[in-house]
Amino acid sequence: MKRRITLLGTVFTILTTMASIAFAESVSFPKGAATPSETCGECHQTLYREYAFGVGSDTHSANHAIPATVSSAATAHATSKFTPLASGGDVEWCRACHFAGTFNIPGKDDLGKQLPNVSNAGEISITCATCHLTPEGKVRGVRSSKNAPHASVVEPALQSSAVCAHCHVDTTDKRIVGGQYQTFLEWREDFNKPGLGAQQCQDCHMPRTLRKVAEDTDGAPVAVARHLWTGGHSSQRLTGSLGLSIIQRDTDKAQLSFSVTNIGAGHSVPTGPNARGVYLSVEVLDRQGVSRARKEWLFAPNFSARPDDKAFLEADKKLSGYEGYAQTRADAQGSHEPPVRAGEERLLNWDPAVAPGLYTVKAKLRYTTDRFGAPVAGDEKEMGSAALLITSK
Ligand code: HEC
Ligand code: HEC
Ligand code: HEC
Ligand code: HEC
Ligand code: HEC
Repeated sequence: MKRRITLLGTVFTILTTMASIAFAESVSFPKGAATPSETCGECHQTLYREYAFGVGSDTHSANHAIPATVSSAATAHATSKFTPLASGGDVEWCRACHFAGTFNIPGKDDLGKQLPNVSNAGEISITCATCHLTPEGKVRGVRSSKNAPHASVVEPALQSSAVCAHCHVDTTDKRIVGGQYQTFLEWREDFNKPGLGAQQCQDCHMPRTLRKVAEDTDGAPVAVARHLWTGGHSSQRLTGSLGLSIIQRDTDKAQLSFSVTNIGAGHSVPTGPNARGVYLSVEVLDRQGVSRARKEWLFAPNFSARPDDKAFLEADKKLSGYEGYAQTRADAQGSHEPPVRAGEERLLNWDPAVAPGLYTVKAKLRYTTDRFGAPVAGDEKEMGSAALLITSK
């Protein structure tokens, strides 16, 4: 009896080994990063729905084509090739991130010692294969699975900021405070190093839920990261990022301070391209609700290496194309506040000249994905607000 069980066990092992060999050879991806995500989506259906349609997110953008049947929009990764690139000048440079090919993730120990490699352009948007295929054509995952029909490799760095650093920082390894495309360096220098938090990019941007890795398998549900990457096009994401309070410095006077604190982001707010901006608008209303004073601040990276400044408007006339247009818009907005760095509290003072009386001070934070363009419906989002009753004697 005992013998028979062993025999059956052996036969079973041989059969499953054969099955997994047959299975292992059944799917390969000769097109590399240009493998359409639909191919992976045939078996990884939930992950595909998140990536391609944003199912489960509140992403909204005029840029990201919205299928009429889903309330959310596709992720920016899935639509990165539709971003207007031709206007940007060095198109090959743009392609390196927006049409990225497969790449090697710098090892955890190399983090920060190595420049991200952005010279591996593929043909289509960022695909499942862009992030998951090694240049050798194996699928990198976070756990080893016996069930996968494709050649797999366990890659711990897939759960670290290193994989995002490949694109979420410019080619420079130097932190440029107030510069654009600094997200990874902002995280490393301002958030990770001083110990503000232990989170990697994925911990905030790819929260995990219990689910199957692929739908039609016997595999038990495990912690799998959501593929939604909500950012500046998501109210849910933006709402918790900045804390806002109004302070009356002297109980009898209209001497006000506004405290804007980065409490939710592992990098500056705003981060990324220089077109991103956060407006703090403040209004002082009298008892009839009539506005008696107002002021607005802009938080943004500078357009170029120098600060944005009205003084350059004359010189800007010599520039042409998108650069001329955007630099002129940036300088016309005048000098502004730099982005609020991770863990930073920014205090802004304002002493409005108002007659003695009772007032309500209202403050509001708004996020724009394009401070250079005309406001596009849906691309400007409220981030938070505060109100305070004051008396001025
Ligand atoms: C024919 C179906 C099928 C296709 C096509 C497919 N996968 Fe898989 N994949 C699976 C199965 C089944 C597993 C194992 C699931 C489990 O462990 O429960 C898996 C596992 C994975 C894992 C986890 C790590 C590992 O390798 O075990 C990753 C990551 C992954 N696939 C990514 C991809 C990507 C990216 C593509 C497209 C380039 C793709 N898959 C195409 C069926 C498929
Ligand atoms: C921008 C890069 C990126 C893209 C694009 C991407 N993924 Fe992922 N994926 C990741 C990262 C990073 C993780 C691990 C996250 C974690 O757990 O911290 C992951 C995890 C996974 C896992 C679980 C791995 C495991 O071992 O259990 C699967 C399966 C997977 N992805 C499949 C896909 C599929 C299918 C697509 C396309 C629809 C896709 N991914 C697109 C970055 C990406
Ligand atoms: C292959 C390059 C590449 C990699 C790797 C990559 N990204 Fe991105 N990511 C992009 C590009 C390009 C965009 C902007 C696309 C667009 O809007 O056209 C983007 C957009 C985003 C956004 C903004 C979404 C929005 O709607 O505003 C978030 C958040 C994000 N990525 C997070 C991550 C995280 C976290 C990782 C690591 C797990 C990662 N990305 C890895 C290239 C990449
Ligand atoms: C502690 C949580 C946290 C961590 C860690 C974190 N982020 Fe974010 N991220 C946020 C929040 C909150 C926002 C929204 C506010 C903003 O735009 O800065 C955001 C926004 C973004 C955006 C959208 C900006 C845009 O252009 O619209 C990108 C891209 C992004 N993060 C990438 C990353 C990358 C890459 C990392 C790792 C290097 C990372 N994040 C680490 C919380 C986090
Ligand atoms: C180093 C990688 C990289 C390069 C190179 C790059 N981008 Fe991007 N781009 C990104 C990332 C990442 C984002 C997502 C926003 C963020 O970083 O916060 C983005 C976002 C954008 C957006 C905003 C899309 C939106 O949804 O609002 C535009 C427009 C854009 N890029 C155009 C360009 C152009 C044009 C070029 C070439 C001149 C270029 N990019 C080069 C990484 C890159």
